[in-house]
Amino acid sequence: MFTKEIYYSRRMQLRSLMKDCRGAIVFPANNEAPMNYHSNTYRYRQDSTFKYFFSQMRDGIVGVIDLESGKDIIFGNDFTIDDIIWMGNQPTVRELAEQCKVTEIKPLDELADFLKGKKIHYLPPYRDDTLIYISRLTQQNLEETKKNASVELIKAVVALRSVKSGDEIKELDRICNVGVMMHLKVMGKCKAGEDEQKLAGLAEGIALANGAGVSFPIILSQDGQTLHNPYHNKKLAGGRLLLVDMGAEDESGYNSDYTRTLPVSGHFTKKQREIYEIVLNANLNAIATAKPDLLWRDVHFAACEDVVQGLKDLGLMKGDVKEAVQLGAHALFMPHGLGHALGMDVHDMEGLGENYVGYDENVKRSTIFGHASLRYGKALKVGNVLTVEPGIYFIPQLIDIWESESKFTDFINYAKVRQYIDFGGIRIEDDIVITHDGCRVLGNPLAKTVQEIEALLD
Ligand code: GLY
Ligand code: MN
Ligand code: MN
Repeated sequence: MFTKEIYYSRRMQLRSLMKDCRGAIVFPANNEAPMNYHSNTYRYRQDSTFKYFFSQMRDGIVGVIDLESGKDIIFGNDFTIDDIIWMGNQPTVRELAEQCKVTEIKPLDELADFLKGKKIHYLPPYRDDTLIYISRLTQQNLEETKKNASVELIKAVVALRSVKSGDEIKELDRICNVGVMMHLKVMGKCKAGEDEQKLAGLAEGIALANGAGVSFPIILSQDGQTLHNPYHNKKLAGGRLLLVDMGAEDESGYNSDYTRTLPVSGHFTKKQREIYEIVLNANLNAIATAKPDLLWRDVHFAACEDVVQGLKDLGLMKGDVKEAVQLGAHALFMPHGLGHALGMDVHDMEGLGENYVGYDENVKRSTIFGHASLRYGKALKVGNVLTVEPGIYFIPQLIDIWESESKFTDFINYAKVRQYIDFGGIRIEDDIVITHDGCRVLGNPLAKTVQEIEALLD
């Protein structure tokens, strides 16, 4: 949590960006989410934008920024003695409001009357209970409620949250260090015979012991060719690669997101090392290139070219490298983008609409398979935080389809690709902040080269 002045100043900046709008901005806090019955809930997760403007708080409250009167108001009810018997003493709404420098509070049931006749600005709801709540508040059906989220508000929030302040970067560095600790734990235990599930559990324990938990469900699998593989139910087998993609979330709301790919036997085979070096080269080049004003889309294109050049050197691809990437032939091996924005959400603000976050009037999203998955394409600015995560995957089902359709036969040597059909996948992911003269990798250094990884696994 930051000082109360920071939350106040963020709301003032939002007002300034929305100075031409009338009405009121409404930010409902996230509700508790039941696991199986009302009072048995998942870990509480506050909405990130609510947290950004009003600090942590709790469920059952709504932050309002009245653009006409200039007032910020928190609508909510204090916990009752029945709640306190079960949950212990809780801060009052007044105390919570003071933490973010809001001076006016009102009971929750006065909100509808307060908003009557006003234009209501709200962000796209990503949870159904919030959707229903806003639909009632704005007297629209659910479809209209989804469609009529405030574009002015989305753009203003994206403008503010995209550029991280020094205080935010400190939080990000801290939570990146927790991500590093999680990876080091897995590296220390990565041996044939271990259970993937056990390693995921040990890493998740570190996230919980040093923050609020994981930033997304841990990806830890020897089937790394599945990009977001949710299963970790196998035993580690000598000779295979283990792809580990995970990070932590802080109580203050910031996230980390790292991927490392480990040889279970402790040493990469020649075949694994050759592919690994291509991905590493793409990762390092992207980090060396990223700087203000450069389009992230162009850094992505350059990383795809590194991948194609490397695969061409090994005989898996052929033809003109730039042309292969422009047309999307690389996407057989890297069907995702180079990286995404990172911050209070692990895919920062994507709930507001990916294109609002990653694209603008100058850079439009590609519709070509592979490039279309690039979530962020626009020009970089000092204070942007992004992931850098090139990868090479051998996805048997995709290879079968492309080969049967004779897709990109000018660029892909399918006979050679077949020799890698059970290879799995490699991704290497770091988190960077754009600085005045380039970028800086957040957090403590984490083993990344072949030599560094093999030394840790020994
Ligand atoms: N959440 C997985 C990734 O984007 O890296
Ligand atoms: Mn990741
Ligand atoms: Mn990522």
